[in-house]
Amino acid sequence: MTVLRAVPIGIGHYLPKNIIENSYFETFLDTSDDWIKARSGIERRHFAEDNELTSDLGFAAAKNALKHASLNANDIDAIIVATSTPDLTFPSTATKIQHKLGMTSGFAFDIQAVCAGFVFALANANALIISGQAKRVMVIGAETFSRIMNWKDRSTCVLFGDGAGALILEAQEGDNDNQDRGIIATDLNSDGSLADILYVDGGVSKNQQSGVLIMEGKEVYKHAVTKLTETAETVLKKAKINHEEIDWVIPHQANLRIIKSTSQKLGIDLSKIIVTVQSHGNTSAASIPLAISVANKEKKLKKGDLLLTEAIGGGLAWGSVIFRW
Ligand code: ACO
Repeated sequence: MTVLRAVPIGIGHYLPKNIIENSYFETFLDTSDDWIKARSGIERRHFAEDNELTSDLGFAAAKNALKHASLNANDIDAIIVATSTPDLTFPSTATKIQHKLGMTSGFAFDIQAVCAGFVFALANANALIISGQAKRVMVIGAETFSRIMNWKDRSTCVLFGDGAGALILEAQEGDNDNQDRGIIATDLNSDGSLADILYVDGGVSKNQQSGVLIMEGKEVYKHAVTKLTETAETVLKKAKINHEEIDWVIPHQANLRIIKSTSQKLGIDLSKIIVTVQSHGNTSAASIPLAISVANKEKKLKKGDLLLTEAIGGGLAWGSVIFRW
């Protein structure tokens, strides 16, 4: 029996031109390049210009993904944007990108699961495709986290960056086994009782402010390693795949130490992990599609490669997806 699979057919990314080295933070905070590198693995990040919005970053990534797939905007049925830093409270950033692309049909909407947003969006795109509601879905992770930083808080503002990545998925028939190309298994989780360890202190309903990010880094770190390992093991089980069969792990890029600890717990060699955190910082929902796109540009990914992606963020929300490139 054949089944519908959500198969990746195009990938692209965009990073703002403005590169911020760690040394920049030494000019106004009690911090150092050495501390930031040693504790997080981050060396630099990109910040959007004042007039550059999340939709501009997402639009540029989307154009690059369409080019890579040799498609036009109207070949896409749906756009899902994962973001916690939308241009406006409403309309969605996705509909803004839809319009900028000149896409005159189909539908577009945003998903908010903070740093896990891209994984949640991928799982939702998969559901739209396998249920026959859309044939081609563009999943975009786009963020301007520089807009929600507290520049006096050295424990958070040195960690985040801006950027966007876009992945196009297409319905294709598969043989209903784990050799099929496309999404093979997904695993999503959340626990609202942990909201207080990572949040933004503003919101439309609460105080009509956009607010700034507040994080209990050590607590988030502990949950990250445990929960990322658990969700990766669960998705491997769901897909009936052994960890040794994975060609590439594309983790959320928050902290090199989290990436290393998780890969060690999973028994997956570091040489199979795509790492971009040193150049991008934590770009929240954009970090995974950015990393996939960079790996693709570097010709690391080959057709048929088995990819495991996992992420955790505010909520807490976490999850993973296994797909064949
Ligand atoms: N420069 C110098 N010193 C610093 C800095 C800095 N930028 N930031 C903190 N410190 C100090 C602290 O004040 C503390 O000093 P003290 O011992 O005198 O109190 C010391 O360094 C150690 O601080 P810790 O917070 O214990 O440092 P830790 O090793 O835990 O690293 C970090 C902090 C990088 C934030 C880490 O905990 C982390 O990565 N946490 C997880 C972040 C994450 O995964 N986020 C993902 C989700 S993000 C999202 O969803 C939006």
